[in-house]
Amino acid sequence: MEERWPWEAEESLEPSDPLAHQRLEESFKEELPRVIKLLPVQGTVMGSSSPHQTGDIVCYDILKRAPLYDLTSHFSDIHPHAPVRGAHRHISAPTLFCLSGRGWEINDGKTYWFSTYDMLVVPPFTIHQHGGDEEAGCEIFVPQSRMFSILGLTKREQIKFGEKPTFPQGTEPLHDEQGKLIGYRIKKGVLGIKEDIDVMLGADQKTETVFRARKEVNPWEGAVENTYDRYLKMFHDEGSFCNAVTHVVSFEEQPWEWCRQGRLKWFTHPEMASAARRVWLYMQEISPGSRSGKHRHMAEEQILVISGQGYDIHDGKRWNWERGDLINIPSMTEHQHFNADAQQPVLLLSSMPSVCTDLGLGGIEQLEDAPEYADSESTAS
Ligand SMILES: [Fe+2]
Ligand SMILES: [Fe+2]
Repeated sequence: MEERWPWEAEESLEPSDPLAHQRLEESFKEELPRVIKLLPVQGTVMGSSSPHQTGDIVCYDILKRAPLYDLTSHFSDIHPHAPVRGAHRHISAPTLFCLSGRGWEINDGKTYWFSTYDMLVVPPFTIHQHGGDEEAGCEIFVPQSRMFSILGLTKREQIKFGEKPTFPQGTEPLHDEQGKLIGYRIKKGVLGIKEDIDVMLGADQKTETVFRARKEVNPWEGAVENTYDRYLKMFHDEGSFCNAVTHVVSFEEQPWEWCRQGRLKWFTHPEMASAARRVWLYMQEISPGSRSGKHRHMAEEQILVISGQGYDIHDGKRWNWERGDLINIPSMTEHQHFNADAQQPVLLLSSMPSVCTDLGLGGIEQLEDAPEYADSESTAS
């Protein structure tokens, strides 16, 4: 498909037609495929990571590869003995899912270990750096919501570059007078920006003050006497919660649940105690030759095919997929997943924007049950 930005065509719209923009956007959305191949990893200032698969996280780079507005994702492939990755921090709290191998994550100086199918939680404002086991390496998948960007909460700082940083096309390194690497420049034209942007290494003072206040807050003491006090207390509660909650949600500790949609294992959802609440994240296993339930929800959904092959039916239309593909399901779509292999199970990793529950739009409408659901009492494990 021809490369274009949604707003580039807007100048030709009839100004007296108030719905013209909406129709144009819908037409972009309808043209886009529901199943896409992953863009491969490339060198970055952090190490080796893929571009965001369905548009950049910190701008409105949407409706270019898939018909989703909020969700995107990327992955890092850390080979055995790979150069040490860089470290950074930002407001948004990511969930990092280990697809293969094993590795470590350093959050504000403390090390957490993870292995295949574990999920890592990086609380907001945390300096984080991850790496793979020297012998095994690891692959990390990061499903993300753009909600922070829309709220203007995009502040991020590069604390350390990777051991062997790569400056991708459209960027260039910045050095001080002694030749020391101190930052990089994003050239105008990249992602539609009109002026060069300089990203300097290290923390700026205002960010440090604001982030530190939230990280080092003490528990709330005293009474809550009015509505305003509730939000003063919330500041203390949010910081205390993030400092106490787990950074690793392990595959082994999370139970498989049989439900009307099939066999699911939840890693995070709005009712779980987690410091990273951008997305719901669950794994689904579909038995050989079987299918999921059929359902519909207001939240859009992005699914990585971890293993197996099959197809989806979206509003009556079939979309084939295989291992490594990304399935993209727009809001309000009736959908169902089918395992096309008679021998091997399918494993899917599903993400949805968790903010929908806060908006009163989190409910799921079940249209058909998974075939095994009736036997779930005897097959649950
Ligand atoms: Fe990060
Ligand atoms: Fe769904």
